[in-house]
Amino acid sequence: MELNFRSDNEAPAAGKILDSLLEANRRTAWSYGEDQWSNRLDGAFSELFGTQTTVIPVSTGTAANSIALACVTPPWGSVFCHRGAHILTDECGAPEFFGNGLRMVGVDGENGKMVAAHLRESIRRSVGHGVHSYQPTTISMTQITEAGTVYEPAEIAALSAVAKEFQLTTHMDGARFANAVAALGCSPADSSWASGVDLLSFGASKNGCFGAEALLIFGETNLRERAERLRKRSGHLLSKMRYVSAQLLAYIEDGLWLELAGHANRQAAQFVEAVKAHPEARLESTAGANEIFVRWTPAGFAALEKAGIQFFLWPGYDDLARFVFSFQTTEEETVTLCEALRRSG
Ligand SMILES: Cc1ncc(COP(=O)(O)O)c(C=O)c1O
Repeated sequence: MELNFRSDNEAPAAGKILDSLLEANRRTAWSYGEDQWSNRLDGAFSELFGTQTTVIPVSTGTAANSIALACVTPPWGSVFCHRGAHILTDECGAPEFFGNGLRMVGVDGENGKMVAAHLRESIRRSVGHGVHSYQPTTISMTQITEAGTVYEPAEIAALSAVAKEFQLTTHMDGARFANAVAALGCSPADSSWASGVDLLSFGASKNGCFGAEALLIFGETNLRERAERLRKRSGHLLSKMRYVSAQLLAYIEDGLWLELAGHANRQAAQFVEAVKAHPEARLESTAGANEIFVRWTPAGFAALEKAGIQFFLWPGYDDLARFVFSFQTTEEETVTLCEALRRSG
């Protein structure tokens, strides 16, 4: 039995997603997103989100984020995000690169979340020297956060309200948007545009697809051409886009995305209970979805590793580790992990 809790990026693709690829593979189709699958994306996502939605399919989350931010932020503009945000710490400066030098500003906040007061303060502090300062333009929040926590719709709305106060645009890095919506039990709308999100990087690769992500732009927009130009210029317009689009359609059809994410979350919830019951190990943050961060002794983690459990020791720490559950994690794997944790106590 493989006991890999390192990352949902390491999970395979789901069967129904592979079926959609076979279906898209039967005959010729127009290239560069002019195919019958890509042409259905706007309609399908508009229906799912209950508002007009422009869909720009891409193959990585980094591209979705970077195109989104560059679309709405000028080179002299700044993007406010949590100090641990993936776009700030894990994308090798791609947003700055795509945005011709835009500035990323890290905001403090517990549990991986920005809060309205800090965000407001940070925006206020960043202006004041007129043309000499960067111009605050955009905010970005990650759902689920890099600490494994989930923003409630009210928290998203509070941050978006601060953005509006300063006439900024709101972006969400939804690499694990499915896990968040499944955890919250709310509608996709409530976790996005209805709470003030203007652009959403809608992740799919971590939850059953592969090389399939989408930048969603909500409402009436004149940003489509800009986003499409940025996608082409950055080498992300796939000639065989149909394979990305077919996956995205299959992913949202009949609630597959939430079914897969719900399963991952339920496995994670069992592990949360096992950590709570452990005499030494403790949860690093209020875990809400499929990523669980655990504080423990280096010796404890070493014992787990010896039991054949694979997990991700957080870079720079020997007492903090991440355990990630995917749509493919089986009940048996979860039980084995929980048992191994209990025995290593
Ligand atoms: C929160 C978050 N955002 C964005 C990404 C970027 O995705 P990709 O690796 O497909 O570029 C990741 C990848 O792990 C992520 O965890």
